[in-house]
Amino acid sequence: MVTLIETIEGVRRACDQARAAGRTVGLVPTMGYLHEGHRSLMRRARAETDLVVVSVFVNPTQFGPNEDLARYPRDLEGDLRACEDEGVDVVFAPSVDEMYPRGSATTVHVEGVTRGLCGDHRPGHFDGVTTVVAKLFAITGRCRAYFGRKDAQQVAVVTRMARDLDLPVEVVPCPLVREADGLARSSRNAYLSPEDRCAAPVLFRGLRAAADLVVGGERDPKRVVDEVRAVVATEPRVELEYVEARDAATIAPIDRIDGDVLLALAAHLGGTRLIDNVGISVLGDSVVVDLGALPSEQSAGAATSARPSLGPS
Ligand code: PAJ
Repeated sequence: MVTLIETIEGVRRACDQARAAGRTVGLVPTMGYLHEGHRSLMRRARAETDLVVVSVFVNPTQFGPNEDLARYPRDLEGDLRACEDEGVDVVFAPSVDEMYPRGSATTVHVEGVTRGLCGDHRPGHFDGVTTVVAKLFAITGRCRAYFGRKDAQQVAVVTRMARDLDLPVEVVPCPLVREADGLARSSRNAYLSPEDRCAAPVLFRGLRAAADLVVGGERDPKRVVDEVRAVVATEPRVELEYVEARDAATIAPIDRIDGDVLLALAAHLGGTRLIDNVGISVLGDSVVVDLGALPSEQSAGAATSARPSLGPS
């Protein structure tokens, strides 16, 4: 049975008691409206830790003034059912006042990795993310925390923060989960009109075509990025916000595709902003592409471990 806890004290006590009994804690931070991407994180946490805590909190501090905080989809009942299905022990669903009581004056800011990509296009976004995630880590205490590569820059930022602040949390990056047609699963997909939903998989096709170029030997980031642009341009409903190749760990700009590279984009369809990415690892002539997990691979049990490969070339 999943237990719903709405107070910081309550969830802290549950985690402390588990550890006192020699059990490990797994944390899956979410903003709710749970889908298969979130569920893959829960399954991984369930398999690897004893007490699984899922937080469901639409964090206001990570939304900009013109973003979709007010209309962000919410369904706590459905989320509780999904958590029950996945064998989650605790759902932590605090109110905004519980997380940010009047007088809260502290923000956690990570330098460097928050520059570029979404950091440039959503000012203040990552400060909101790191502040709430630092609080969740402080509330939960020693644990493994599961994050999806869907938000690859977020993984880099949270990993850096945990290391820099000596937080007793092991950040575990997990595969990006896709729909059968390649669209990255997202709570925001619920906003898409039927026409925009049909157009959206062009983002994945663009990233895959660009990754194919790298497998074929291309190492110039500009040509690789131009390939994504060319494919996405075939779908006039889709407006690219950015597409860039960056160092996967530091998010620094690169002038050659080498080592662990993140090819990431953001795009607008109608009023909806979507992000997507692929990981490309180049070591000499060998190229391994991480496209994430498609449903056929998930049913083969790969949702938690797949790094689908197009290479070595
Ligand atoms: P949210 O968008 O709800 O995502 C919660 C977690 O699920 C994140 O780690 C995200 O990367 C992961 N996730 C979402 N879609 C996924 C997909 N298609 N495949 C794999 N993982 C996926 O990210 C946030 O919430 C917030 O910023 C949060 C970390 C909770 C802080 O408020």
